Amino acid sequence: MAEIIILPTAADAGALVADEIVSLVKARRDAVLGLATGSTPVPVYDALRSRVDGIDVSRVRGFALDEYVGIDPAHPESYRSVITRQVVEPLGLDPALIRTPDGALATIAHAGEDYERAIAAAGGIDLQILGIGTSGHIGFNEPGSSFASRTRVKTLLAQTRADNARFFDSIDEVPMHCITQGLGTILDARHLFLLAFGEAKAQAVAGAVEGPVTSSLPGSAIQLHPHVTVVVDEAAASQL
Ligand code: GLP
Repeated sequence: MAEIIILPTAADAGALVADEIVSLVKARRDAVLGLATGSTPVPVYDALRSRVDGIDVSRVRGFALDEYVGIDPAHPESYRSVITRQVVEPLGLDPALIRTPDGALATIAHAGEDYERAIAAAGGIDLQILGIGTSGHIGFNEPGSSFASRTRVKTLLAQTRADNARFFDSIDEVPMHCITQGLGTILDARHLFLLAFGEAKAQAVAGAVEGPVTSSLPGSAIQLHPHVTVVVDEAAASQL
């Protein structure tokens, strides 16, 4: 059973997870973080800024959950750019130690395997931050994803493209495909933190935490993990 923490605001949740990350990095300077993108983890990254002063983060390693396929890494909404802007630069991490899946078309055939190898070589992910999509996806594992899946290319649901259109000038610019850590990859992380805020996430959160374990709601895979902390606000907890 996951530990469920309901807090008044997303900022409170961000502070709680940031404190966990700081403790981890103090205990293990080369900790391996699993980094999520989207709006949900932003309060965590914001809270970390005021907490990393005086802490040696030079050896911290990180792996992003996912990336768009065929997007220029320099595009401001590539997840590489987002992680650089929101995490690497403000926290002063070494960019060479922070990886995102490679969404370049030329190397996409082996990009998933390469990423899995890199995670394994790092000794696995210590702490994985997760958001959840309105479809119940984690990473970009849309409904129907196998619980055994590893990093691979997926097609984005129309709903997910519509949800993410706010980051682009128009929905037509949202890529059709992504490369994402699989559910099996995510389940290998040693501690999962699933965060969700707002009423729009309430149904997905309830399904993930209390519903049947089913690939129709990929977030329900967290029920198979021995160490999960779910951090939500009242609105996202409203259907629990
Ligand atoms: C995005 C990301 C996920 C994220 C989810 C929710 O598409 N690929 O990693 O958790 O959808 O996004 P948000 O936090 O912006 O609601």
